[in-house]
This record gives sequence, structure tokens and C-alpha cells, in this order.
Amino acid sequence: MPDPEEFVVTPYEIKGKIDYGRLIEQFGTQELTPELLAKLHHLAGGELPPVLTRGIYYSHRDLGPLLDGYANGRPFFLYSGRGPSGPLHISHLLHFDLCLWFQKRLGVPMYIQITDDEKFWSRPTLSREETVHWGLENLVDLLALGFDPKRTHVFFDSKSIAAMYPLAVRVARKIPYSSVKAVFGLQPSANIGWVFFTALQTVPAFWPSWAEGRSVPCLIPCGVDQDPHFRLTRDIAEGLGYPKPALLHSKMVPGLLGEGVMSTTANRADDALFLNDPPREVERKLRNAFTGGRATVEEQRRLGAVPEICSIWALWRTRFAPSDREFEEITRTCRSGELLCGDCKAKLIERVHTFYDEHAAAREKAKSWAESAIVTAPPKAL
Ligand code: TRP
Repeated sequence: MPDPEEFVVTPYEIKGKIDYGRLIEQFGTQELTPELLAKLHHLAGGELPPVLTRGIYYSHRDLGPLLDGYANGRPFFLYSGRGPSGPLHISHLLHFDLCLWFQKRLGVPMYIQITDDEKFWSRPTLSREETVHWGLENLVDLLALGFDPKRTHVFFDSKSIAAMYPLAVRVARKIPYSSVKAVFGLQPSANIGWVFFTALQTVPAFWPSWAEGRSVPCLIPCGVDQDPHFRLTRDIAEGLGYPKPALLHSKMVPGLLGEGVMSTTANRADDALFLNDPPREVERKLRNAFTGGRATVEEQRRLGAVPEICSIWALWRTRFAPSDREFEEITRTCRSGELLCGDCKAKLIERVHTFYDEHAAAREKAKSWAESAIVTAPPKAL
């Protein structure tokens, strides 16, 4: 019998109920402590965003030294990415919301990687047309969150390869095949694209140091499932003369149906709220979403509901209740039984509609500069 406690987290597979505490031990990462958050609060000179204060980002590697360096006049840059296997869903925005907060607060540059090659290799049902199409669509969605065109650069793998390749060949020479096989759990039948790909995911982390010929620190906000890639990156950094990137890891956002994580490729499309869902779909999906409510109104009034298991509460928590006062009020009245699930859902649906409307307008602007943000030329000949 499989052990119910077993779970798997790699960039290519998430299985079972994730125990995030055990994952910190398994991966050998560090817990994101109140002391570190206080340090960041101080440096940023203002309120921290919900994703940091509400336990969504929970683990890190070397955030302390990165922040100390910044305090001592050593600025860093941000790097995050997206594998374009389909439309973006709400949980993809987490990392970019956080990056945007950093960029607005500290004025730091942002590098976004769009891995159309990776998704072509790892999802046999996708065509090249689809991965490129979704890559561009996803990119516009991400830029539309409000990134600064002067400080935001994009590696769109198949379009940026001439720029990335001179650095990728250096990276690839340092990564043993046995590490890739062990870290990603690759099967013998895996195509060889998967084996090489991790070199490309490392490139942006070293790019500014390589381009500028000096050591530029990097911070990567990402889902904890991406940590295996960056363990390899960190292992080889010093051998190439670059600083090890620091990481901030988030938990995975639960799916709307209450099991597993929100995912583009889950068979159940109703599990994810996609950015291109029309208003009626948004409403239908949220109406059907799993909550922590009770079987009857009477019971819920008497016993209260359980926010921690509720997929609607998880959405309030990430981005839809930006004010802490409102978020605490939702949580309190949910627990006490004052707030019923139907009313809570109606309120969220309205909030999501407003965001989608604003986002549609912001997308039009982002379209005008998305292509020009793509890096196409290497900074050096070799
Ligand atoms: N591999 C990631 C995915 O499948 C995409 C990605 C590329 C990424 N570079 C990144 C994610 C850096 C986080 C940080 O979605």
C-alpha cells in the first residue's frame, strides 16, 4: 500500500499532500522567519505584500546575505519565469506580484524567462505553434501587471537563444548528466531536450554578471517545485565565478476543487481560474468551488466554517483582499459562522471581475512593448 504521507515535488511532478515543513528538511532550504521579514520591511521602507505576510512564501535560500548586501550598497536583480503550456491561471501571478512589489519598492531590474522549449519537450501533446502562442500571451499578461518597461527584460527561449547560447554552453559543461537524472528523476525514455533544458533555466540567473563582467546578485521568487533547477544553478555558480542566486519559495495554491494544486494541465479545467476565462466561466467555477463550509446553513451559523481548507479563502489570501483589515475580517466572520459561503463567493466573484476588466485594459498597453523587451543579442561575441 502506498504510504499516505508520501508526496513528490519536482518541476515535472507534484503528487500527494505536500508537507511543507518536511519539504524544508528534504530540500535543505531555510524557513522564512519573522526576523528576515522585519529586515525586508525595514529595507523596503513600507508594508510587505500579502504574499509575504500571510505565509504563502515560506522558505528561502540565502535571502539574509542578499538583503545585507543590498543594505550595504550592492543592488540585486529579480528573475522568475513561466513555462507556457496554456493560459495563465491566478496562482501564476504570485511570483510576479512579489517581483513587482520589489521592483516598485527598490527599483531593481526584472528578468522574465518564457520557456516555450521546455514545455514543448515536457508536454508531448503540445505543438510548437501552441507553446509559442501561449508564451507570447502569457508574457503580455505578466507585463500587464505593471512592470517598468525600462527595467524589465525577457528571455523567450526560442527567440532569445542566440543571446543565451554563449552562456548556456559554459553552464552545460559544468552540469553532470548524473545530477540532472537524480534531481529531476528522469526516466530512460525522457527526450534529451529535458536533459539540456536546465542549463537554459540557469542562464538568466548569471546573465547580468556575465554581461557586465562583475558579480551581480540575483533573487529568484518561485514555486518550491522549481527549487531542484536552482540547486544545480547554485552548485555550479562559484565554479563559473558567479554569485549563487538567492531564492524565495512559495507554497503551491490549492485547486478550486479542493484537491491538489492549481495547474494548467490538470485534467480538470474547473480546478483552475484562468486569466482568459470569460465572466460567466469565472462565476460558474467560483460558484462550484470547494469551501470549508458546513452541510447546512444552520450548522454553519452554529459551528462556523474552516478557512484553512477553503479554495475561496486561498484566493482572498493571495491577491484579492490586499488590505489586512479586510482579510482578517473575512477570516474572522468565516470562522464564526457570520459569513456564509454563498455571500463570500458573490463578493469574491465581483472582485475577480473587476480585476479581469482592469487587466484587459492593461494588456493592451503591455502588447505595445512586449516584443521589444525580448533579449535577442548576446552582450559578447563568445
Ligand atoms: N520552469 C518553469 C515552469 O515550468 C519556468 C521558469 C523558467 C521559471 N525560469 C524560471 C520559474 C525561474 C520560476 C523561476 O513554469
